[in-house]
Amino acid sequence: MLYTPIRFRNVELKNRWVMSPMCMYSAENGLANDFHFVHYGSRSQGGTGLIIVEATGVEPRGRITNHCMGIWNEEQAGKLQKIVEFVHQNSESKIGIQLAHAGRKGSTWNNIQIPVEEGWETVAPSPIPYHPTERIPHVLTVEEVKEQVRNFKEAAKKAVKAGFDVIEIHAAHGYLVHQFLSPLSNIRTDDYGGSFENRIRFLIEIVDAVNEELNENIALFVRISGTEYAENGWEIDESVELAKILKQHAVDLIDMSSGGNIHGMKIPLFDGYQVPLASQVRNEAEIKTGAVGLIKKVSHAEDILQKGDADLIFIAREILRNPYIAVQGSFEMKEDCFFPHQYLRAKI
Ligand SMILES: Cc1cc2nc3c(=O)[nH]c(=O)nc-3n(C[C@H](O)[C@H](O)[C@H](O)COP(=O)(O)O)c2cc1C
Repeated sequence: MLYTPIRFRNVELKNRWVMSPMCMYSAENGLANDFHFVHYGSRSQGGTGLIIVEATGVEPRGRITNHCMGIWNEEQAGKLQKIVEFVHQNSESKIGIQLAHAGRKGSTWNNIQIPVEEGWETVAPSPIPYHPTERIPHVLTVEEVKEQVRNFKEAAKKAVKAGFDVIEIHAAHGYLVHQFLSPLSNIRTDDYGGSFENRIRFLIEIVDAVNEELNENIALFVRISGTEYAENGWEIDESVELAKILKQHAVDLIDMSSGGNIHGMKIPLFDGYQVPLASQVRNEAEIKTGAVGLIKKVSHAEDILQKGDADLIFIAREILRNPYIAVQGSFEMKEDCFFPHQYLRAKI
């Protein structure tokens, strides 16, 4: 399974390994640099089926920190294009980008809010800070909500031009889209708050707007937090309902993460702790899912796929430790996988 290709629209992934998006906090003015070129390039040399570039802000306030990546201007898209071209020309990997807006969780460093003068005034659906000691975020007006939808659309347009194969919308971990989904961070009384239909409206509008920029050669993924582990918060049944609707809106895969929206919530951690969420959404909403979270071993990844719990395996910390996990797994399992021709004398 791990080395069985899979298609999303016309995008064929050679294997099921995905480099999960990971902020590197190493950009200046949102620009990718040599570090990112080597960082993503090396995972392509490691045979990873799909690389997803870290959370990338659709506007300056959409970043978590001053050193997060951005894609609100042509210069930023041009730097990313170089990485995309390297990956396409020197490996069999596909490469995607996670489009993000931090909302009330922006303007930070090391998870601590920084002053407006050094950062910015954060935005959110409602005047509720992530942590009580933080500034009250600016509440987006309806017109400003629509402007954020346009920011995602414009970013998607630039990502398409840069040559990405997959766009992933970041709707998890308590960032802006998740803030709209959750009744604990969204207490609006207009069309974007209250009922389930209203709370998901922002995400659905983003999905539709982004899809207008895509074609059959670029797939669309959405990362959500399957649950936020909080009483009366967003939970798995709503995730299943949302996934059914996203499927109707031509979303190709739900990347199932969890948590991040409610400060101080304890996440029960164990190997594959989010796999049950991926499994439930896959089976009840009948949509492809990605499993992520403490998946470190090739045999565990294979088991998840064999059991029908997910279609893709997203790995984050393990692929930082081992950029060659995909190719190494193929040696263990005696399967075919891309290995740079320059390295063939090392093939096991
Ligand atoms: C350094 C680092 C940065 C991360 N940045 C992002 C990000 O940009 N977007 C995102 O959705 N998740 C982010 N995550 C979460 C990972 O994608 C992943 O979901 C999480 O680490 C669990 O997977 P793991 O156990 O394989 O590390 C980050 C994780 C790490 C360790």
